[in-house]
Amino acid sequence: MTKIAPSVLAADFANLQRDIEMVNRSEADWFHVDIMDGVFVPNISFGMPVLEAITRYAKKTIDVHLMITDPDRYIGTFAALGSDILTVHYEACPHLHRSLQAIKKEGMQAGVALNPHTPVSLLTDIIKDIDLVCIMSVNPGFGGQSFIENTFTKVEALKELILKKNATTQIEIDGGVTDENALQLKKAGADVLVAGSFVFKSADPIATIQELKKFTAV
Ligand code: DX5
Ligand code: ZN
Repeated sequence: MTKIAPSVLAADFANLQRDIEMVNRSEADWFHVDIMDGVFVPNISFGMPVLEAITRYAKKTIDVHLMITDPDRYIGTFAALGSDILTVHYEACPHLHRSLQAIKKEGMQAGVALNPHTPVSLLTDIIKDIDLVCIMSVNPGFGGQSFIENTFTKVEALKELILKKNATTQIEIDGGVTDENALQLKKAGADVLVAGSFVFKSADPIATIQELKKFTAV
């Protein structure tokens, strides 16, 4: 069953508790939480106090996506705040193996995100150490952008690599996910679909989440 992870970045921050509780009641599987530092990406989202507020109400897996430089500095902090999965960017980690070990040592699952230009083949020698690969289907930094079509090919290539290496890595897709690409992404090998605007800007987010689950259940 494909997992759906609504991206809190698209929630109404003035009604954060309401939106978190909506996701709790829905068929969504995870909360996707985007942390941006204004350096690695050209935008600043929110930081620790807001994550703390989210985890106070969230009753599902907390999937934290770090779009920050030198993420090693904050691994312990994000563990203490209740993150279940911590994803760092390939492009921000010169010692990726060390970063992944540090994340696991703190009791979290370790994820690696790839920017649209970064080929999945760069993960060949580390795939067995990765719990989750987040394929960016937009350039990270903003919600509400349109889906980059080349993503399908990348998902297929990653799935092939995972099978070849006998790895158990999950594939997550992040950016521009809608009912128009969800099924094709699942067929290409996606395990988790992040959806921000498509869920939170819809008239009935609970129904939209249900629709995404149904689309990808076949
Ligand atoms: C982009 C973020 C995404 C974003 C997805 O930098 O990593 O998680 O919130 O939002 P949508 O679904 O609106 O593209
Ligand atoms: Zn994200």
